[in-house]
Amino acid sequence: MMNVLVTGGAGYIGSHTVVELINAGYEPIVVDDLSNAKEDVIDRIEIITGKRPVFYKVDCKDKEAMRKVFSDNKIDSVIHFAAYKAVGESVRIPLEYYRNNIDSTLTLMEVMEEFGCKKFVFSSSATVYGPNNPYPYKEDMKAIESSSPYGWTKVMIERILTDYVTAHPDYCAILLRYFNPIGSHESGLLGDDPNGIPNNLMPYISRVAAGQLEKLTIYGDDYPTPDGTCQRDYLHVVDLAIGHLKALEYAENKEGVEAINLGTGNGVSVMELVHAFDKANDMELPYVIGPRRDGDLPAFWADAEKAKTLLGWEATHSVEDMCRSAWKFAKKASEK
Ligand code: UFG
Repeated sequence: MMNVLVTGGAGYIGSHTVVELINAGYEPIVVDDLSNAKEDVIDRIEIITGKRPVFYKVDCKDKEAMRKVFSDNKIDSVIHFAAYKAVGESVRIPLEYYRNNIDSTLTLMEVMEEFGCKKFVFSSSATVYGPNNPYPYKEDMKAIESSSPYGWTKVMIERILTDYVTAHPDYCAILLRYFNPIGSHESGLLGDDPNGIPNNLMPYISRVAAGQLEKLTIYGDDYPTPDGTCQRDYLHVVDLAIGHLKALEYAENKEGVEAINLGTGNGVSVMELVHAFDKANDMELPYVIGPRRDGDLPAFWADAEKAKTLLGWEATHSVEDMCRSAWKFAKKASEK
C-alpha cells in the first residue's frame, strides 16, 4: 500500500485528507509541529477511521528529524500542507512567513531528494492569481504575484517546484490551487478551529452562532457585485480532501509540473453564505455591515474544468452541506 507523508496532517485540510487517505487504503504518515493544531486530532482520526496514523511531532524545517521520518518509513509520495496561513499576520511578520513556509518546503524537498522520493502534491492557493487576472481563474493565466507575504510564499514555492522539475524531469509536482474551503467532516469531530479570534468568514460565523462572539461584521456591501458583498468560491473541505487523493493517483505515473484549481466554479456572496447558514441551521445570525477589509478582492471563483478533465474530480457538496457541517463541528467544540 502507498505510504504518503502528510505534512500539516493535524491541521484543518490536512486532517480531513488523512481521513480520506485511510478510507481509500493508503498509509498516511503525519508530520505536524502542532503550532496551529492539537494532538487530539490524531485520536479523532482514529475514532473516525478505526485506524491510527503514524504521527511525528516534527517541524519540517528540522532536517535531521525529517531524515528520520524518511528512514523509518518508505515514503512513496508527499502532500505538503504545513505552513503559516494567516493573511493579515503575514503582513505584520513577513520574515517569519518567508522563513517558515519556504524553508520547510526546501528542507522537505532536499530530504525527498536524498531518499529518492519524486511525487509532490503542494497546497497552493487561488491567491497566486494575484489582483489583476479576470475571473473565473484558469490555470493557464499568469499566476506570478500575490497581495500578501503569505500569498507570495505560495507563488515562490510554485516557482521553486517548477524550477526543480525543469532540472529533474522525472519528478512530479502537482500544485493544487484551493479556493475557499469551509465545512467539516460529517462526524463533527474535525473542523476549522483557529486559535484566537478567527480571520476567515466561516470560523467567525461559527463563533457568532455559538454565542462566543457577538455578531459578524460583513466587510463592505458596496462592491460591484449583485448584492454588494464579496463573492468567493466556497467548497466543502471533504471535497477538497478527495481532490488530493485524485491528485496522488494522477501523479503516480506522471512526470512534470501541473497546476490545478480545486473549486466549485461558482461564486457565492458573503450575504448569500450568511443566509444559507441561517437556513441550514434554523437560526438568525446577528450581523452588521462594516467597512471594506484591506486587500479583499470584490469577487473570484475557479474555472473548475481542468480538475474534471485531468483528475476526474468535481465538488459534490452543496453550500447547505457546508453550513450544516461547519455548525455541527462548531457546536460540539463550543460545548467542551
Ligand atoms: N469576511 C467578512 N467578515 C469576516 C471575515 C470575512 O465579511 O469577519 C468576508 C471577506 O471580506 C471576504 C469573505 O468574507 O469577502 C471571505 O473571507 P475569508 O477571510 O474567509 O477568505 P479570503 O477569500 O479573504 O481568503 C482566502 C484564503 C486565503 C487566500 C485568500 C486570497 O483564506 O488563504 O483567499 O486568495 F490567500
